[in-house]
Amino acid sequence: MTIDPVLIKSSFAVVEPHGPEVAARFYRHLFEHNPGVRSLFAEHLDGQQDRLWAALGALVTRLEDTDALLALLRDLGRRHAGYGTLPAHFPAVGASLIATLRHFAGAAWTPATEDSWQAVYGTVAATMTQALTEALSGAGPAAAAAG
Ligand code: HEM
Repeated sequence: MTIDPVLIKSSFAVVEPHGPEVAARFYRHLFEHNPGVRSLFAEHLDGQQDRLWAALGALVTRLEDTDALLALLRDLGRRHAGYGTLPAHFPAVGASLIATLRHFAGAAWTPATEDSWQAVYGTVAATMTQALTEALSGAGPAAAAAG
């Protein structure tokens, strides 16, 4: 699986105009297939939907700026330690994200697009999970700086 930034950006450009509908469908899919994670989120998802959407846009914008992207993902992963998120939750979120993008991309979605998104999510999840695991175990930048 390889990341093709052109495929990622072109498919995202088709999905993006659907705005809040995309996040709404993503959460519906996630909670339908994984009812156990619903309680991690606030009852009203409006603000959360905007933040997730902004984060996805930020990721796609920085796709080719690896340093900025990794720094953003490490921060995001660390913050998720405070939300009750566990590394085991990432595959479910990835599956719902890809299903949602596939739905809104329509004819713009090809097997190569899916491969590219799988590769992007794999990198995102691996980087966030590492930072999350460090934060949960009390390691992370402070401990690393001290040691
Ligand atoms: C691609 C992976 C993910 C991205 C881009 C993402 C993005 C975000 C963003 C931008 C926020 C807003 C708060 C902040 O910026 O710190 C947030 C909050 C949150 N995320 Fe994620 N997230 C991801 C994966 C996950 C996973 C795997 C879970 C586990 C179920 C999760 C659960 C949560 C929860 C519970 C909150 C707080 C919601 C609330 O306050 O109601 N996220 N996420």
